Amino acid sequence: MAVRFKHWLTAVAGAASLVATGAAVAQAAFPAKPVTVVVPFSAGGPTDVVARLIGVPMGKALGQTVIIDNALGAGGTIAAAKVARAAPDGYTIFLHHMGMSTAPALYRKLSFDPLKDFEYIGQVVDVPMTLLGRKDLPANNFKELQAYVKANGNKVTLANAGLGAVSHLCGLLFMSQMGVELTTVPYKGTCPAMNDLLGGQVDLLCDQTTQTVPFIKDGRIKVYGVTTHNRLGSLPNVPTLDEQGLKAFEVKVWHGMYAPKGTPKEVIDKLNAALKTAMADPHVKQRLAELSSDIPSADKMTPEGLRTHLTAEIAKWGPVIKKAGIYAD
Ligand code: MLT
Repeated sequence: MAVRFKHWLTAVAGAASLVATGAAVAQAAFPAKPVTVVVPFSAGGPTDVVARLIGVPMGKALGQTVIIDNALGAGGTIAAAKVARAAPDGYTIFLHHMGMSTAPALYRKLSFDPLKDFEYIGQVVDVPMTLLGRKDLPANNFKELQAYVKANGNKVTLANAGLGAVSHLCGLLFMSQMGVELTTVPYKGTCPAMNDLLGGQVDLLCDQTTQTVPFIKDGRIKVYGVTTHNRLGSLPNVPTLDEQGLKAFEVKVWHGMYAPKGTPKEVIDKLNAALKTAMADPHVKQRLAELSSDIPSADKMTPEGLRTHLTAEIAKWGPVIKKAGIYAD
């Protein structure tokens, strides 16, 4: 019995060392297969644009293909829950914007915790927004838009990408500062919302420059203002909403990259290094500049930088959203 027990112990020890060696090899070899970046909104929209832009150089840096998986619905919370439940091996990661910080207050039943269920790879990009109208909307500038929404109220439709989307948040801010209640129309991303704006099926949309700059430049939609304090390099003739009287109307959309909780530090370090390489890529820098989007400082593009920012943003948005009484059951 003693002998058999010793054999068993030796076998277990051998197996354990094999497992340990295997794990070390697997870790050292990361990534041994394509890495999937889950994007919480539709293909072709602003978040997807960023993911696909940086996905190529990230893939080159990792020596593997980066696949984009658009997991739609519920303002990004379906995608976040999917990543929170994914294997913590670095092969499923997540790109989301500041909706990650508003979700805990907006959704009473959330099946993930942004501060407990993820590892943090780093902040990605800061994107301004623009207030847009369909091309044949009678209002030709912001002054006329103010009169138009006041006169037409809920006959005016305002598209967004659902509760938790920044298009929703920006639209709420616009309505509250204008003192009007418009009819909101939710989509699964601002790409389909933009299609309907181009087609004239909805009147207004508040959306990020990562999608809107080309359409504004083509004159296919009307633009009433940008949501930053200063005008944008890519749209120098478009006034800010602030300078047109909507004081303190400032929305800049920060983004972060996440992995499921428990993803090994070595893997996070590799993903972070690939993210930094991608953000330093000349094509990425040029494209983001064309879209007036800012690359975060080096200290923010770190796991600690993202975690600290996310924690502060959750604390900032919680009371604001609670006071506004906006939530989903
Ligand atoms: C998108 O990618 O469709 C947008 O980021 C959605 C949003 O407005 O938050």
